[in-house]
Amino acid sequence: MEGRTGSSPCWLRYDLQPQAAQEDRENPLRVVAVLGGSATAACIAEELERAGKGLYRTTPEFVAEPSRASLVVGLDLLGPFADQLGEEGFVIKPGAWEGQVVITAKTERGLLYGMFAFLRELRLGRSFASPGGSEAFLLENPSVPIRMINHWDNLDGSIERGYAGRSILWNGGTLAKDQERIAAYARLLASVGINAISINNVNVHTAETGLIGPKLPLVERLADIFRPWGIRVLLCINYASPMELGGLTTADPLDPHVQEWWAERARAIYARIPDFGGFVVKADSEHRPGPFTYGRDHAQGANMLGKALEPYGGIVIWRCFVYNCMQDWRDHTTDRARAAYDTFMPLDGKFAQNVVLQIKNGPMDFQIREPVSPLFGGLSRTNQILELQITQEYTGQQKDLCYLVPLWKEVLDFDTFAQGPGSTVQEIVAGRVFPQAYSGIAGVSNVGSDPNWTGHTLAQANLYGFARLCWNPGLSAAEVGEEWVRLTFGDDERVKSVILEMLLKSREIYENYTVPLGIGWMVNPGHHYGPNVDGYEYDRWGTYHRADWQAIGVDRTLQGGTGFAGQYHQPNAELYESRERCPEELLLFFHRVGYRERLRSGKTLIQHIYDTHFAGVEQVQEMIARWNSLEGRVDPETFVHVAAKLQEQLKNATEWRDVVNSYFYRKSGIPDERGRKIY
Ligand code: GCU
Repeated sequence: MEGRTGSSPCWLRYDLQPQAAQEDRENPLRVVAVLGGSATAACIAEELERAGKGLYRTTPEFVAEPSRASLVVGLDLLGPFADQLGEEGFVIKPGAWEGQVVITAKTERGLLYGMFAFLRELRLGRSFASPGGSEAFLLENPSVPIRMINHWDNLDGSIERGYAGRSILWNGGTLAKDQERIAAYARLLASVGINAISINNVNVHTAETGLIGPKLPLVERLADIFRPWGIRVLLCINYASPMELGGLTTADPLDPHVQEWWAERARAIYARIPDFGGFVVKADSEHRPGPFTYGRDHAQGANMLGKALEPYGGIVIWRCFVYNCMQDWRDHTTDRARAAYDTFMPLDGKFAQNVVLQIKNGPMDFQIREPVSPLFGGLSRTNQILELQITQEYTGQQKDLCYLVPLWKEVLDFDTFAQGPGSTVQEIVAGRVFPQAYSGIAGVSNVGSDPNWTGHTLAQANLYGFARLCWNPGLSAAEVGEEWVRLTFGDDERVKSVILEMLLKSREIYENYTVPLGIGWMVNPGHHYGPNVDGYEYDRWGTYHRADWQAIGVDRTLQGGTGFAGQYHQPNAELYESRERCPEELLLFFHRVGYRERLRSGKTLIQHIYDTHFAGVEQVQEMIARWNSLEGRVDPETFVHVAAKLQEQLKNATEWRDVVNSYFYRKSGIPDERGRKIY
């Protein structure tokens, strides 16, 4: 793939000529007018130059006079479209003469997104140059206002849950040397509409605590790199900073000295970075400090920070990943799944205008299958952001192929029924179900210093897909996947169909050979890769499957269980409550089920476990055969790379199959009906 030795261009490949260029049609990039002289306008001009040279093998002529240009990019040329356009939206439309195209918007961000959308559509074979044609214009507004990437990167260059090398942002306690790579990353993110980034781990250790103190110039430098690409920088902060950095004796949010300390920090930050986005906070979670220490609740804790940032337009993104991580496994009354709802629902309506709660998609922790967090639809008077995990912590660590867009689509399409039918998560995070000053989607980054950015080259599809869904959650997993494959690999039909099929089946395959029916975990403790069915079973983290020789699963019903099912609106609550009607893929999350009990397929639970695990390994073998059929059709480096990843995946899948099947065979003593090898 072009640039692999340096860094992969990902989906911005201008060496793959679009059909139009091959057919020698008029080059829309031959004469270009980019109006305005800002840093963003310069980025736009550079991008168009790069695209012109790559796609049409001609350097565009840049002119100041729009009338001569085949492509005009400029603010406020909206005409009849003005009313339909939001702050970040754009229109691409035919210009004054046959063959001229105009890209326009209300803001520079809009122009940037319009320019990238134009290049995307061009490469996907669409034209905007014929006035009156049915497809002659494209008007888009992003669905979701905050479209953010969270980096769990540490200043020493390590990444918590990173599977693609080292941090591209940090190294050795300071900024990474290769700042061109950071700029290239900003460009990649802008090309798919990302507008915010948090630049350090949610677990803020000593070195990172200093980012709001002596190390602030490093943040300023990053903000300068991301700014021209329309991306605001946010910082994760340590709630105990007033003590650890400021030398105070307390971090109590109600203490006036603490409040003044944060207000002063905010002043210092905004003096250097006027468009600083705000703080992301992990408090009272997994041993991180927070307001609980002082007997204060999370609204008191968050609002104090909100007040400090408020004069500058900054926001506080407060994470809801709060639970008891010191549970006794013998304790069946505490249910981690309930924790976020139990903590935050009583505070609904109590958060300041500029505080936003960030909620993981599920009530547990980014498993391959979980129900949607009931805080979505529960909270009705609080700003909220959905948190997804692009990095594949529990989903194969960028060794195994797992295209996560289908999982995210299920979350976004989930109907909470909070305001009757249609109250889907995507409508909530777009701010259309409840009144919210801020709403959006955040994704934990899967990017690192590897030349292909994401460890597994096909995991680039997850970064692309995440951003595309933020822009338009209405796209299907197949549409997003097809776009990505064509932009990354070109238009070979066979390549497209094979890779697309691999992507679309990969989540189901991963689920087949790993954790059955929504129960979660069963991974090796600590690093979370590979099978260990009882790895967390007798531990403190609240993640139990409770398997014995007769049954497995956690009863989370109201009738006799932990009551978690009752945290949903009807009809979801009643659906989850019912053993018969519960969506089967979540059966063991909500119910305790005997191995001999029948599923809807007619199979017993134990047979289902055996069958899916055998099938998962066979499906990986099939993927390998399909991929091998592409030899000579994708570039050799990528071909060999993916082939090697698939071999690693096969090893992992086989390990999972045998460990899980043996575990349940030994627990239950029930043999496989089909007599296959179980150890
Ligand atoms: C997971 C992950 C941690 C991370 C945490 C979080 O539990 O394993 O590494 O810190 O989520 O989201 O805060």
